[in-house]
Amino acid sequence: MKAYRAALLRFDPAADPRQAAVYEADGLLVLGPDASGAEVVHDVGAWAALAPRYPGLAVEHLPGRLIAPGFIDMHVHFPQLNVIGSPADGLLPWLENHTFPEEQRFESPAYSAAEAEFFLDELLRHGVTTALAFATSHPASVQALFAAAQQREMRLITGLCLMDRHAPAALLNRAGPAGTDATEQSLIDSENLLQQWQGVGRLGYAITPRFAPTCSAAQLRGAGELAARYPQAWIQSHVAENHDEIAWARSLFPQSRSYLSTYDDFGLMRDRAVYAHCIHFDAEDRALMHATGAAAALCPTSNLFLGSGFFDYASAEQAGFRYGLASDVGGGTSLSPFHTMLGAYVVGRDGRGKAGLSLTPQHLWWQHTAGAAQALGLDGRSGRPAVGNLLPGCEADFVLLNTQATPLLARRTARAANLDELLFALIVLGDDRVVERTVIARSARARPVGPR
Ligand code: GUN
Ligand code: ZN
Repeated sequence: MKAYRAALLRFDPAADPRQAAVYEADGLLVLGPDASGAEVVHDVGAWAALAPRYPGLAVEHLPGRLIAPGFIDMHVHFPQLNVIGSPADGLLPWLENHTFPEEQRFESPAYSAAEAEFFLDELLRHGVTTALAFATSHPASVQALFAAAQQREMRLITGLCLMDRHAPAALLNRAGPAGTDATEQSLIDSENLLQQWQGVGRLGYAITPRFAPTCSAAQLRGAGELAARYPQAWIQSHVAENHDEIAWARSLFPQSRSYLSTYDDFGLMRDRAVYAHCIHFDAEDRALMHATGAAAALCPTSNLFLGSGFFDYASAEQAGFRYGLASDVGGGTSLSPFHTMLGAYVVGRDGRGKAGLSLTPQHLWWQHTAGAAQALGLDGRSGRPAVGNLLPGCEADFVLLNTQATPLLARRTARAANLDELLFALIVLGDDRVVERTVIARSARARPVGPR
């Protein structure tokens, strides 16, 4: 067993997410193996109450530090790190001029492997321990990302990007050697990759139609059939991000009631289906999200950078569908969960055509940890793995935060009168400098990762 003494943050799963944080100013986190040998939280609580139960246990004492659940990025593009910060007149020109050219380079296994190492090290350095990530349409990019995540024992979900039309030829799925066309081959490749990686260690497979405009009806139908055959696998895509994108999707699938219902019509909405953006929805779309169990990945820095729009928190709450936060790098401007949480606060404040909301810092933090885990189906219900929290039984992925990482942050957190003020100071002033250590659950023992 291994133990840490520090301030501790976790979430009460039975509480209102707006006020669900449980904080110990002087806490003890005890880790140990579960029945399968995976490292999980064995015990957690106030130091004074717990310490007497563990006489002789070696404890790493970290005064002035805050231990919090590792962050979960619900939507990030591994092949877009190199185009972060590329300005464009909205989504479609951004894809065409910056993103599609860079993604073509991932045809090379060597390029993919080098980029996968850098991408995962950057996620960890920013405190992200679980990610649902896009790769490219090249199987080599998927293999590289899974292999690099397996080496780090990270909980990572990805899959082959399905796109058989409306993009440069070098980025479309390819025909197979035995005469199978590109569409058929992309589905064969997806199933092979799924069988190779789904459930291996902490890895998961996501069936990944990029978005309706780059997928033929046959490809969406095949993806839906795959999703029905493998209910434990995830589905990821994009929806209702940008007005031009929506008009394009509507013109290609006019028989569907809406852009979102196109995915439903092909069997692509269910538990473990995650749709990025979900901005320009109507009430029926929101009801469909709720009824099918699909979840939204909110990408505030991307939506602000590309001018896509503002997620409607109040309507989402009313409809009751699940959601969590995501960076959407390279459309997003940072891998830092602190930047994403601040972006979400700004998006919530949008008051044009509706009342602006002041999301609580606890709610923002929950959306990037316990709430995101719930949206991904990784919150431990019915024997599923649990991440995004530090309750007994949760996988031991956590961050060690320095609340005095910069002079202004030290000054501001010293003045924090309560937990909300402390969390808000970190959200507004924090970035990778705050993340002193990221710890990933190990089958044998916890080991710090990243450069520090
Ligand atoms: N829609 C389809 N592809 C993409 C992408 O790579 N990024 C974003 N933000 N939206 C998309
Ligand atoms: Zn995206």
